[in-house]
Amino acid sequence: MFFERIEQAPADPILGLTDAFKADPRSSKINLGVGVYQNEDGITPVMKCVKEAEQILLEEEKSKTYLPITGFPEYGQFARELIFGKDNPLATDGRAVSCHCPGGTGALRIGADFIHQQHVSNTVWISDPTWANHYQIMTSAGIKFERYPYYDRVNHSLAFERMLETLLQAKEGDVVLLHACCHNPTGVDPTVEQWETLGAFLKEHKLLPFVDFAYQGLGKGLNEDAQGVRILNKYCPEMLIASSFSKNFGLYSERVGVLTVTSEDVETAKRVLSQIKIAVRTAISNPPAHGEKVVLKVLSDTRLRSMWEQELSEIRERIHKMRQELVDKLSAAGAGDYKFFVEQNGMFSFSGLNKEQVEKLKADFGVYIVGSGRICVAGLNERNIDRLVEAFVAVTRE
Ligand code: LMR
Repeated sequence: MFFERIEQAPADPILGLTDAFKADPRSSKINLGVGVYQNEDGITPVMKCVKEAEQILLEEEKSKTYLPITGFPEYGQFARELIFGKDNPLATDGRAVSCHCPGGTGALRIGADFIHQQHVSNTVWISDPTWANHYQIMTSAGIKFERYPYYDRVNHSLAFERMLETLLQAKEGDVVLLHACCHNPTGVDPTVEQWETLGAFLKEHKLLPFVDFAYQGLGKGLNEDAQGVRILNKYCPEMLIASSFSKNFGLYSERVGVLTVTSEDVETAKRVLSQIKIAVRTAISNPPAHGEKVVLKVLSDTRLRSMWEQELSEIRERIHKMRQELVDKLSAAGAGDYKFFVEQNGMFSFSGLNKEQVEKLKADFGVYIVGSGRICVAGLNERNIDRLVEAFVAVTRE
């Protein structure tokens, strides 16, 4: 038999939680596992700007023929404007090339395929902790990984000195995978000064930044969240950026992402793009159209774009409000000082709960969070926050 020896794989540490949550019969259960925004009613809504764009597209669409291998050029340009800023020459001058990929994951994988296939590097340095999928994306593309420390668990802050100290061991030409903002899972990002130091460090040690940009607009704002990438690019004209529109457009299931690669000059960038095309053609042939068309429609229409920016800022503000409430309620319940929750950015808070406590939350209270102790605060609302606090206090008191 061919398949008899195949072993059962473990459930995915994040998406597997959603399956377990769905199978849980308790009506009081709360899903704070996967990084998906839920509104006050516990629903992950389709954004209004997206719905409108879809209605227009339904009327306008005349064909479902293939998209170009890298997606529509205008889509790439909008993505670059979001990353670098509208007035930055990189958005238009040809040194940066972009390619529509299926979600941020697809962009990471195509970027990793490009790095491996073109012998750019064979080692990537990944933050510890990080999004669990980073490891398997890189290794399945044939790149081995090393870890650099990222989080100071005592002070709930960035372990910046230890990070740089460890990265001194990286060899010239190694890749360093960074989170542009809203670090997943810690919610802790470098300051502007730290980004500057990091940029100079990467340049000095000839390391290639590969930036995972999955949460633009979910932290401090569309421009504010892009500051790190923009700073790095001043020092490192060559870099890769994997952007996602899953979270900031709520287009999770449409798999809309972009890989952007910057080079020192236009001629190099053209050659880079030609190889990325091969990587895409080999992996998926060409990208799915719907999500890309929606993003393009919203970003190119002044009214829809301002609706999007407004909706996104409401999401960001609601997440921030829930963070603050969580801190206040935990403090009122005598759980201690969790002020650091409001200092973390984006959808996640790194609670400090250990594996046993996380298990207990699930078993005794039906509260699902990721095994690392990551809580998706974007899933909190006025109806479930008290139950979370009660469960949190119970598991931390024992
Ligand atoms: C998460 O970290 O929860 C999200 O990025 C969803 C995923 O694919 O893991």
